[in-house]
Amino acid sequence: SLPDKGTIRCTSPSNIALVKYWGKREIQLPENPSISFTLSNCYTETSLEYIKLSETQETVKFDLLFGGKEKPDFRPKIEAFLQRILPYVSFVKNYKLKIDTQNTFPHSSGIASSASGMSALAFALVHLEKIINPELSQELLVQKASFLSRLGSGSACRSIEGPVTMWGKHNAILESSDAYAIKVPFEVHKNFDNYQDVILLIDKGEKQVSSTVGHNLMHGHPFAQKRFEQAHDAVDDLIQVLKTGDLDRFITLVESEALTLHAMMMTSLPYFILMKPHTLTVLQKVWEYRKETGSKVCFTLDAGANVHLLFPENEKDEIYDFIKTSLVAYCDKGQYICDKLGLGAKIV
Ligand code: PMV
Repeated sequence: SLPDKGTIRCTSPSNIALVKYWGKREIQLPENPSISFTLSNCYTETSLEYIKLSETQETVKFDLLFGGKEKPDFRPKIEAFLQRILPYVSFVKNYKLKIDTQNTFPHSSGIASSASGMSALAFALVHLEKIINPELSQELLVQKASFLSRLGSGSACRSIEGPVTMWGKHNAILESSDAYAIKVPFEVHKNFDNYQDVILLIDKGEKQVSSTVGHNLMHGHPFAQKRFEQAHDAVDDLIQVLKTGDLDRFITLVESEALTLHAMMMTSLPYFILMKPHTLTVLQKVWEYRKETGSKVCFTLDAGANVHLLFPENEKDEIYDFIKTSLVAYCDKGQYICDKLGLGAKIV
């Protein structure tokens, strides 16, 4: 039965890929499997208010607010998302929605808000479905939330659960799927408990090339097939590393994946570079620091100039010192965000 009205509030975090997704086919299906760490402090909080309409509508009726204020710029993206997922959430046609959403991290900080934002909205919608259909199992609810998130922004599907999720069919993991992400179905070694991620905000400017354009440039890319094969191998290796806790192999794998992602950008046509001079300086400093101290810190990169520093919890004090003395000078306005592994989307 359809409830008259109510509000669902939830949060969903950002995530950082270890094995990168780069290249997709219709509709938001990945060309290769990816694995990511779900984050904790960088998240979107979404409130979804639903009010039953007297008549069923053909399109989605919704108001959109950001922290209580209207931001017309964001409307087209959300509208397209809702329209795309409508066949899977047709109950939405009976409601007027009021979506109010807010991020814990600064907007245009170069941190993709699409992963947390799309997954938070998807998570809220499946909870509305659960109210309408209480039979919906928790397992299916989570799977559907990931499936819907994927239709908003591919990597968003990896934010619903945590601390480690995987998206894309891979023959070592029977449960894996291109349609949604899953929590990795094995025990992750305790070396990764509370693993830390400090995001150094190197450049907060708008990206010159969107990830959609970047993904599309993998069509006809001279190294595409080799890259997709390599990602399958990297997933195989990372599964072993996550099971054994081998941090040296982790470092090599994760840094290689980050640089390969950017190498794909540099070798596409048109070619482009999203790293900035300060990005490269930071990478050099990380290598020097590791050589001098034997630290297990490593870096990874998103489709942008910012650097994610990944390190075990027991190195927290030393790495924070290292950041303050040696890296903060290369951050835009000295800004960085301290985060760590998290468990995914939650109702609040
Ligand atoms: O989800 P999208 O379309 O914004 O793509 C994100 C791709 C990377 O962040 C560069 C890699 C990844 O796997 O998250």
